[in-house]
Amino acid sequence: MIRTNNISFSYTEYEKTEELDSHDMELIIAAREAASKAYAPYSKFKVGAAVRLESGLIVMGANVENAAFPSGICAERSALSNSISNHPEDKPSALAIASMTEDGYTDDSPSPCGNCRQVIAEEEARIGNKIRIILSGKNKTQIIDGINSLLPLQFNRKNLKINLP
Ligand code: THU
Repeated sequence: MIRTNNISFSYTEYEKTEELDSHDMELIIAAREAASKAYAPYSKFKVGAAVRLESGLIVMGANVENAAFPSGICAERSALSNSISNHPEDKPSALAIASMTEDGYTDDSPSPCGNCRQVIAEEEARIGNKIRIILSGKNKTQIIDGINSLLPLQFNRKNLKINLP
């Protein structure tokens, strides 16, 4: 039998930052601050990510580039590596991402690359909860309720048939 399946997802888009929840806005401000500290001499595209933990703590990360290009790391993975290695028991509930060029914060909201989507998926699997993903641009903010929407049909621990605690 042949079946055509359809996957769709909903997300919320805000035109004005004044419409945002104050907690989300606080996380966006942290992501912007993180972006301003990025090390991106090659692309000049600075990305910042801020992870909100269940305790309320906010952990930040930025992209860190390298002359050997593949050795660089994206902001999302930088922030999640920071939160997982320093606060393994404190579960992330939200992740905000912001980007800037030499002209300032970008109008469009940045979207996590494929590698980062895979790492966010692993973190959701590790903590057993969805992570609210907040993509912040000057002209719009997009809020997605979990990585499944951005990475459908994902490869994860279920494929390996490994049951971790
Ligand atoms: N970058 C991120 O930090 N996050 C993404 O999700 C997309 C791309 C970085 C990697 C590189 O340092 C620069 O942006 C240009 O690709």
